[in-house]
Amino acid sequence: MSEVLREKIKQKKAKIGIIGLGYVGLPLAIEFARKGYHVHGVDLDQAKIKLIQQKKNYIKDVINKDFLYAINNNLFTASDNYEKIADQEIVFICVPTPVTDNKTPDITYIMNSAQEVFKRIKKHSLIVLKSTTFPGTTEDYVQPLFESKGWKVGKDFYLSFSPERVDPGNKVYNTGNTPIVVGGATRKCTELSAMILQEVATKVHMVSSPRVAEMEKLIENIFRSVNIALVNEIARLCDRMGNVNIWEAIEAAATKPFGFMPFYPGPGIGGHCIQIDPYYLDWAAKKYDFHTKFIELSAESNEEMPFYVRDMVMKEIANLPIKAKDANVLILGTTFKKDVEDPRNSPAIKIIELLYKEGIGNINFHDPFMRTIRLMDKIFRVQELNEKLLKESDVTVIVTDHSAYDYEWILAFSKRLIDTRNATKKIRNNREKISLLGASTYKVS
Ligand SMILES: NC(=O)c1ccc[n+]([C@@H]2O[C@H](COP(=O)([O-])OP(=O)(O)OC[C@H]3O[C@@H](n4cnc5c(N)ncnc54)[C@H](O)[C@@H]3O)[C@@H](O)[C@H]2O)c1
Repeated sequence: MSEVLREKIKQKKAKIGIIGLGYVGLPLAIEFARKGYHVHGVDLDQAKIKLIQQKKNYIKDVINKDFLYAINNNLFTASDNYEKIADQEIVFICVPTPVTDNKTPDITYIMNSAQEVFKRIKKHSLIVLKSTTFPGTTEDYVQPLFESKGWKVGKDFYLSFSPERVDPGNKVYNTGNTPIVVGGATRKCTELSAMILQEVATKVHMVSSPRVAEMEKLIENIFRSVNIALVNEIARLCDRMGNVNIWEAIEAAATKPFGFMPFYPGPGIGGHCIQIDPYYLDWAAKKYDFHTKFIELSAESNEEMPFYVRDMVMKEIANLPIKAKDANVLILGTTFKKDVEDPRNSPAIKIIELLYKEGIGNINFHDPFMRTIRLMDKIFRVQELNEKLLKESDVTVIVTDHSAYDYEWILAFSKRLIDTRNATKKIRNNREKISLLGASTYKVS
């Protein structure tokens, strides 16, 4: 029966369901619609469904023209319930995979959505899990659920894992031009999945099982976590030394054309991937009496960075003739990543929380993408970024280096600036005002 689905894919007649219409699901849905497939999206967040129904695109990386084309041509519909999933032949699951407060994997979103799909999906459909997760999730958790119908994988239904590689804010690589990896529960599952994924990717790389595909994704993200932890450690050492600039050293190391890839220090990682994924593998490893010390250390070490930035701020304030309660601190850039509107796990928000707990009297923030930050008993509202605000702030901290900022202007009117991103690199005046992470006593020679 896989022949029927195969034929439908060939003729672009296979109906596609996307569960979870966030940073991963919406771009994928629009990409399939752009290629002529009928796509139905499901998201429990009614606000997102309402926006789609009002033809309002809420993901910056999705091209508006493509979004409107998909909706206006009835190629993309969406609902906050699973009813229409009964009509779909291929379903992609793109729901969140966070960690619990104790840093253990939380796959309840996967299991809840899989359960809803399971209740409705017809025989001979294909289910592709895209949410990042630990090796074994697809085969040990999702597969048994569908087999509890008495169905056999590879015969009565098809199941694969295909990790998502979307990099929000990346101007070069997007869902459409990034190779995709896929591993199915059986060879037939892999081939069917590759066939449909081929429609939206330049290249599909098939692996022998969902486990390999799950591990592959964790390797990608843990590679970044470990390397960022490494440069963060060296940045802290450079601060201690006081006379070595880590940024200059990395720039020099990057002139080596082989065997080196630059990673940069920063105020912490944030987001929904690199900060979380090490904990997924760490947890899964324990089942095998294996402790991924190195990986866990990198995650912990990166999570220390907002505390380090707090200490940098407190040190600046300690040098002033004012008490913490009278200090004005301005945080610039509060989403987790440059030019991206996503605030999840943002280090800036953690830094604000830590400064608030230190008793800093007046903490202001500015971000082109955020209006409010709710923390404990307090709501912080975005401030207008102007000369007055900069002049009144005892310490200004660049946490997320959005391109919209005029760093020369910020530096000109700031009393003292903590630059955690080397955003002021190209500015040649007033360097003595800057505390640069990884080069705290930096001065232009
Ligand atoms: N954001 C990225 O850059 C990125 C990149 C690669 C991989 N991933 C992975 O992809 C997955 C999704 O991430 P995201 O950033 O798109 O998350 P997101 O929060 O932006 O989107 C997930 C959506 O799923 C919806 N949802 C939750 N439970 C649901 C359910 N039971 N049924 C239907 N909808 C439900 C939420 O309302 C939300 O809109 C995660 O595993 C993440 O690690 C994300």
